[in-house]
Order: sequence, then C-alpha cells, then structure tokens
Amino acid sequence: MTDQKIDPTGGSPVHIPTRGTLPARIGGSVKSLPEFGPSVMDASVYRDQVRYELERERVLGRHWMIGGRTEQVAKPGDWISYEGHDETIVMVRQSDGTMAGFHNVCSHRGPSFVTEKSGCGARRFTCPYHGWVYDTRGRLVGVPEREDFDPVVLASAHSPAVAVEEWGGWVWFNLAGPERAVPLADSIGPEITADLGAYRMQDMVVHEVVEWDVPVNYKAIIDGFNEVYHVTELHHVPAEFTKAARCSSFHVVGDNFMCFVPRPTHLDKLPDEDFDHHRNAICHYVVFPNTVFNCNPEHIQVFQPIPLGVDRTRFLCWEIVYPGDQSDPAYADYWSRTMTHWNELKRVVGEDISIYTQMARSKRSSAFSRQILSEREFKIALYHQNMDRKIRD
Ligand code: FES
Ligand SMILES: [Fe+2]
Repeated sequence: MTDQKIDPTGGSPVHIPTRGTLPARIGGSVKSLPEFGPSVMDASVYRDQVRYELERERVLGRHWMIGGRTEQVAKPGDWISYEGHDETIVMVRQSDGTMAGFHNVCSHRGPSFVTEKSGCGARRFTCPYHGWVYDTRGRLVGVPEREDFDPVVLASAHSPAVAVEEWGGWVWFNLAGPERAVPLADSIGPEITADLGAYRMQDMVVHEVVEWDVPVNYKAIIDGFNEVYHVTELHHVPAEFTKAARCSSFHVVGDNFMCFVPRPTHLDKLPDEDFDHHRNAICHYVVFPNTVFNCNPEHIQVFQPIPLGVDRTRFLCWEIVYPGDQSDPAYADYWSRTMTHWNELKRVVGEDISIYTQMARSKRSSAFSRQILSEREFKIALYHQNMDRKIRD
C-alpha cells in the first residue's frame, strides 16, 4: 500500500498516489474481463414499485451509504442530516470524537425535528411540535409535562440508532443500526480499502457538490457508471480514448467493483507487468449499492444517486481536492489544471444527465421490456443480480 507524499510540483501538498506494492490491476498478464459474456435483463427493475419497496427495506436499509464528509463534522456537536428513500437521519460528532447517528423522527408523534442539512455545536435537538428533547445520541432527555405520559412507554421512547462510521474522509451510515450492521470495512472490502485508500481522501476537502433531480430510478444512474461503452457516442471522446476504454480492466470484489481505464497517453505502457494504474489510469470504484468513486490522480469525483422514489433520484456529484495555499505557485498550478478538468467533467456529467432525461421519456413504455448487454457491460448485469439476490434474502 502506498500513501507516501510524492512531490512532483516542488513543495505542493498535493498527494499523487502510486501503486507501490499493491497488486497490478491492469496491463501485463492481468485478465481484463471476467468470463461473464453478453446477457439480456428484464427492464421492469426500474419501475416495479413492489421491488422498490423491497430494495428500500433490504438494500437501502441494510447497506452502507455516504452521508457527508468528515470535515463537515469536525467538532463535538457538529452534525449533518441525510434524506432519501423516505428516511431521514442525523449524524453527530460526539465529545469523544466518535460519530453517532439516529433517525430524525420524533418518537412522540412522528415529525422530523431537524430541517437543515447541517449544524454546529449542538447539545440537544428539540422537536418543534411539543418540545420533546433529544441528546446527541438520539436519547430522549426532555418531555414537557412528563407526568401526563405513561413512564414505561417513555422509558423506551428514543430515536432509533443508525450505524455511523468514517472512512476515506467520508461519513458512512447504515440504517440497520449499530447492532445489526456489518462493519463498514467488511462492506468496502480489503481490495478497495487498499486501492482506493491510496488516494488518501481523508486529506482532501470538498470543492463543490453539484445536485440534479433526475426522473429515473437510481439503478439506471449506477448502470451509467458501470460501463464505459457510452463514452464514444454520448461524450464524443476522441478515437484514442475509445481505443483506451476498450483496454479497460474490470474486477469484481464481493458486491463491489473496480474498473481501470488506461490513459490514452499511457497505452504503450500497458504490456508492462508493473503498470501503475494509480498514475496511468482513471481508477473507478463502485461500492454497493450507490457510491461511485472516479479517481483522477489529483482529484476525485464521487457520484451519489440517492433514491427518492421508484423513478426519481437526487443525484449528487461531489468534487474533492487536496487543499493548499493558492499563493504557492506549485499549488496554484495544481488548482488551475484541476479546475479546468473539473469544469470539463461537469459538462460530461451534464451529458449523462441528458440521457437520463431521454430515458425518463420511455421508462414506462411498453416497448421497453428488456436490456441487451454486451460482455463489457457485464457489471450492469452483475449489479442487478446482486440486487435481486439481496431482495430475496
Ligand atoms: S411530535 Fe415531537 S414533540 Fe410532539
Ligand atoms: Fe458518462
């Protein structure tokens, strides 16, 4: 695992990850595609309300998803909220430095008590309806006119806990709760922990979060990040990028995926057994069910489609960068090229959004009954197979 600070810019704090002793993931004799083959899948998965409810319970309710950035909750009492798939939660930094999370639902008669996206230095959360008070772990600590209630019922009235952990500078939550959630590290898995960990996202900060309201199922958005087939037609990439994209390698690690797209300028190095994917490829990681990391060596985009309904999604695109001193010429140079690239990527993501709008027109069409997938689109098939297995568990 490599996490040394390389200093190609003469004093800049910008971290450039290298593969180091990590396994080769592309190039040389590394197999680029599992033997999955082409396939056909049913298109009803994007519009089936019954299935969506099962996903809400058994996938979105049991898997780790990102709730925000660690730097948003730096001090005790700092908190962030999350809303999606008809759930609302609060995640709060505790005085011992750990994080706690709980449902943003008053146990009296049910409204949410937090309305903002974030806040600082909270010691209590008070429901605006009748004034029930919760501490930073969601425990009920205040009830006006308490003597009018059944004390036995009040004793069990707290806001149910949500599991919260941190990794890579991200705050992750699992609605299954601290007792039932598998450890986050097990969900991400050792391969992605090491490979994606090399970017040291915990040293990065958010530059911008772009948000779109997209009228399609969240899985259709994940699908778009599970193949590179569309880049030629939709994104009009140059022919050399199309050629490079066809040399991509795909890896399945448990429920998750890694994908490495060699840079066109480094295709000649691909036969090397020690090809450094961190330096010479776009590295792409999908953590089931809806977190996608797109790593350029110097800045990272995180794509987060948050389901709002069976065919509506809040799509967030996070841009994280290494912080630095703009008056440092080396850092200013980093900043300038990173922002140029980020602005270009925003345009590219806008093209992705445009196709979701096209998909929204036909999402209920009787003619849309199946999808025909190439062998290089196998991650889409596998993702939906995983989803299928989990909603039947
Ligand atoms: S509903 Fe929250 S205090 Fe009554
Ligand atoms: Fe795209």
